Amino acid sequence: MNPTFSPLVDSFGRLHQSLRISVTDACNIRCRYCMPEQVAGFLPQHRLMSFEHVARVVDALARSSIRKLRITGGEPLMRPRLPNLVSLLRSIPQIEKIAITTNGMMLADCANDLVDAGLTHINISLDTLSEETFRRLTRREGVDRVIAGIDAAIQTKAAIRLNALVMRDINLEDCVPLVEFALNRGLVLRFIEFMPLDADRLWSRQQVVTGSELRERLSKRFGPMHLVERSDSSQPSTDYRFEGHAGTVGFIDPVSKPFCDQCDRLRLTADGKFRNCLFGKEEWDVRSLCEENASCEQIVALALQSVRAKYASHGISDSQFKQPERAMYQIGG
Ligand code: 5AD
Ligand code: SF4
Repeated sequence: MNPTFSPLVDSFGRLHQSLRISVTDACNIRCRYCMPEQVAGFLPQHRLMSFEHVARVVDALARSSIRKLRITGGEPLMRPRLPNLVSLLRSIPQIEKIAITTNGMMLADCANDLVDAGLTHINISLDTLSEETFRRLTRREGVDRVIAGIDAAIQTKAAIRLNALVMRDINLEDCVPLVEFALNRGLVLRFIEFMPLDADRLWSRQQVVTGSELRERLSKRFGPMHLVERSDSSQPSTDYRFEGHAGTVGFIDPVSKPFCDQCDRLRLTADGKFRNCLFGKEEWDVRSLCEENASCEQIVALALQSVRAKYASHGISDSQFKQPERAMYQIGG
């Protein structure tokens, strides 16, 4: 008899179709909104989920409701032989989309291999075009490497998007040049609001630049902006087009306009735990299940436990809100 697999539906009726897979917590830069200046240590190799185990988990969840994957980090390209993982994931028939979120520093060398292996979407973080601001923001050098990575990605057949995060005291002035850069290259750029997930715990509302404040600034330079109808309700960006310019710019506003009610995401950490939310406190150990050679049914049952324990929203604006123990790079962006 064919076993049946229940879809991953939580207690609020949200159907989960996306899995975000962190493949490492290591990173080659130190963005202030994510990492501390000094890292005590990254996960040792033996604690990372093997590619075979990641593929087993995805194969099981794809029999339930997971259809879309996003590979994250840390910086996912720091994980050696990543195209091998992409090939394994591509061979799972129900999977419709395999995306990656990268800082782009190492992308010029591997964009082709990843896309040949089956990667369909590439999101590249670009918060500034100025080397000086890049250094202030990431405590490292090399915005030219990121731009080379973007240009290499454009040459592939994958869909490319840029993500920008603005911190008021660091890169607010960059919002206009970033949009110009994206429009010139025909790329979609999305601004993401700064969330309280930085390792240094310096987040404050004062540092958050909301989507609406950015739109006000942008329309001074580019003229009126018009809302574009949303084609996919589970994707969190609100997109606008400019009058008189081709191209759109998007805003992901988790702080000022939480979109938790549309959330369809489950997460797998680099050390093999399910997490049901960036701000969740609980984790479900799927790595141990893989090591015990558990069945697909058992893996789906654990994912269901995690999904069913999900809260209605992240609660950033609640008075009792506490920043999670793990920072963004340890959870997977
Ligand atoms: N708030 C919002 N987004 C964040 N990212 C990392 N840290 C934060 C944060 N504190 C996102 C950025 C980055 C991606 C890898 O994760 O958009 O580009
Ligand atoms: Fe690295 Fe990404 Fe965190 Fe920046 S946001 S430090 S690129 S993991």
